[in-house]
Amino acid sequence: MTAQPRPDEPSKALLRALAGAAQAVPPVWLMRQAGRYLPEYRQVRSQVRSFLDLCFTPELAVEVTLQPIRRYGFDAAILFSDILVVPHGLGQRVWFVEGEGPKLEPIHAVADVARLDTAAVLPRLEPVLETVRRLARVLPRETTLIGFAGAPWTVATYMVEGGGGHDFAAVKRFAYANPEGFARLIDLLVEATTEYLAAQVAAGAEVVQLFDSWAGVLPEAAFRRWVIEPTRAIVQSLQRRHPGIPVIGFPRGAGMLYADYVRETGVTAVSLDTTVPMSLGGALQQRVAVQGNLDPQLLVVGGEAMRGGVSSIVDALGSGPFVFNLGHGIVPETPPEHVHELLQVLRNR
Ligand code: CP3
Repeated sequence: MTAQPRPDEPSKALLRALAGAAQAVPPVWLMRQAGRYLPEYRQVRSQVRSFLDLCFTPELAVEVTLQPIRRYGFDAAILFSDILVVPHGLGQRVWFVEGEGPKLEPIHAVADVARLDTAAVLPRLEPVLETVRRLARVLPRETTLIGFAGAPWTVATYMVEGGGGHDFAAVKRFAYANPEGFARLIDLLVEATTEYLAAQVAAGAEVVQLFDSWAGVLPEAAFRRWVIEPTRAIVQSLQRRHPGIPVIGFPRGAGMLYADYVRETGVTAVSLDTTVPMSLGGALQQRVAVQGNLDPQLLVVGGEAMRGGVSSIVDALGSGPFVFNLGHGIVPETPPEHVHELLQVLRNR
């Protein structure tokens, strides 16, 4: 049973869900659907020395974006890039160490913030925009193109910690000890991120997602100031420039604050992390479309455990506006055939 789209509804399944429609078969894409779990990705990755070279070579970035679409026929392709291209665009030194993750020359003080250059971002990120243009030309007509950026708080954590933090001591102490100085960094990221996302939309992105991977480490007042406020500013100015552009917010770990995030940021849809209960997901669906939230480790395990996880999510959320996804990115240990199995379960229920 497939619901017939009304004439005024978008023709692509993902866009219909984001516009508020419930569908018998939910649209599906997976965070980190391109990546090291795919042998064809590892093959392309081995052709370049550094991960950023992959992000900045449109021919290769287009290829790895398309790999999971060819293999699985997902309803959406997500631009292949990284949230840390924005600090690179601002002039901070960013590099990736095999097996350790990202490293950045850390920002310690307001004087370091003053050296960052928002005017340099779009010229330096031009290869990523070229990737978006090429993808918009070659994607299958039913596939939605998703652009993305990191949200200011999460990007700031990498910029100040100099990489992935453990306790976020440096970035929290900066924010608490010198809120005006930290606001300079966040404001600069709001501006750069808005420009960058608007440019992605102009290049052909039909939806954008804001990844706030570390939203869950802040107490309430700081969450309002450094997660909700900057996100609202980006959503407002992006939608002023591109009316109707859907924005998916992913405030990972926001817990009880998910509801305030949805109400106060104005996002079109919200991505639920693995820990969000179905009762909260259902309540959020009264306002926005929800996306999520299978535990990526269930995709590693596969079989009955995975099928059970899929059923409980779709049973709870499938009758409202819903996009199937994971609660966080695919991990490299995921057997590619489990993704096939997932799609089969989802599409043949
Ligand atoms: O398929 C997609 O989802 C699109 C591409 C994408 C990547 N990173 C590719 C990538 C997206 C949307 C991201 C977002 C991203 N990057 C986030 C937010 C989502 C999340 O995971 O919380 C964050 C925090 C980053 C920063 C980042 N980039 C880290 C922490 C790492 C190292 C971790 C790891 O898996 O190695 C990266 C590197 C990275 N980004 C890889 C990929 C495919 C692996 C690098 C490689 O292939 O050598």
